[in-house]
Amino acid sequence: GKVCLAYSGGLDTSVILAWLLEQGYEVIAFMANVGQEEDFEAAKEKALKIGATKFVCVDCREQFVEDILFPAVQVNAVYEDVYLLGTSLARPVIAKAQIDVAEQEGCFAVSHGCTGKGNDQIRFELSFYALKPDVTVITPWRLPEFFERFAGRKDLLDYAAEKGIPVAQTKAKPWSTDENQAHISYEAGILEDPNVTPPNDMWKLITDPMDAPDTPQDLSIEFVKGLPVKVTYKDSASGQEKSVTSPLDIFLTVSNLARANGVGRIDIVENRYINLKSRGCYEQAPLTVLRKAHVDLEGLTLDKEVRQLRDQFVTPSYSKLLYNGSYFSPECEYVRTMIKPSQETVNGTVRLCLYKGNVIVLGRYSETENLYDATESSMDELAGFLPTDATGFIAIQSIRIKKYGQAKKEKGQP
Ligand code: ARG
Ligand code: SIN
Repeated sequence: GKVCLAYSGGLDTSVILAWLLEQGYEVIAFMANVGQEEDFEAAKEKALKIGATKFVCVDCREQFVEDILFPAVQVNAVYEDVYLLGTSLARPVIAKAQIDVAEQEGCFAVSHGCTGKGNDQIRFELSFYALKPDVTVITPWRLPEFFERFAGRKDLLDYAAEKGIPVAQTKAKPWSTDENQAHISYEAGILEDPNVTPPNDMWKLITDPMDAPDTPQDLSIEFVKGLPVKVTYKDSASGQEKSVTSPLDIFLTVSNLARANGVGRIDIVENRYINLKSRGCYEQAPLTVLRKAHVDLEGLTLDKEVRQLRDQFVTPSYSKLLYNGSYFSPECEYVRTMIKPSQETVNGTVRLCLYKGNVIVLGRYSETENLYDATESSMDELAGFLPTDATGFIAIQSIRIKKYGQAKKEKGQP
């Protein structure tokens, strides 16, 4: 039968491809373009040389921005306070494209090269089963006949030599990466000691903040219903003001500006779904800027109680579901319906400056929303409500608090 393999062009998935052929399967090599820096032609040649029947690359870049990344901005998605979910967000898009290819090519099975200790295997497989419940999933790294045979890198290299698989001459990096247009991750290898500072030459996408330009980069981001619709910035090369309006252009423009100005590197220890702690370093330039701008605009335009409910329930639920690989699930479908209605009033523009790793908000305005009333909020005006109104407000709020204080006093508690 035919198997659709998520192929990366690297050593692991090349060995998996050869091994699947050895087991008697026919293999369709699948690759998703999610905006990673990649030589897709070279990967194609390699897959065909190893023996894949066909190589299919699907361009998911626009869909990734429109269906997943922008909604993540709308809901301020974040995992454990800092991780903007770069890898997690890409998985549903890749899994969907892979299942589509599997269906088109008449594959009974899909396969991937994720290890047995990670989040990605869960994300891919739960997506596969939601999208094609009858699919067979072949997971070499969880099959004893595979992982016992390829116990270390040397076994992979020996097998590659035996099968005539070309191995890139570049020395393997002592960590593992995953890249797309939202981020790159670095994990494992020398990073497994959480107290080892990553070497400077590890970071690939974002300029070292210490080396970033001395001139701040100004930009403004306009949102309609919480979605970025326009970015205006001063082009540092030409000195001219430019703007872009398509979702992918907006995302990539913000990405380039942020990367050039050292914005978006993090180094964390996170809790995997699989209950292991893991140290990861991430470069998440575009989402760092877009999230900060969006959060800021909500301060001006979003109702207080709507915001607090959303922050309490929708943002953490959605973020956790994405992290845990449940994008295609009834609970995620339900939570997703709550994003849009929270964003009706999130209309306006945020002006920012990027400077040596910082995102600095310079100001914000909205031409349509009027929740913020400068006169009403002013410390210098007696408009809106009277200072004496606050006396009654505090008196009512203090009824309970006085009882609490009294009880503590009677028990002699501090
Ligand atoms: N720890 C991050 C996450 O779970 C990044 C995972 C990177 N995946 C990979 N296959 N290298 O989202
Ligand atoms: C892996 O590919 O298995 C490592 C990272 C992860 O999935 O969390």
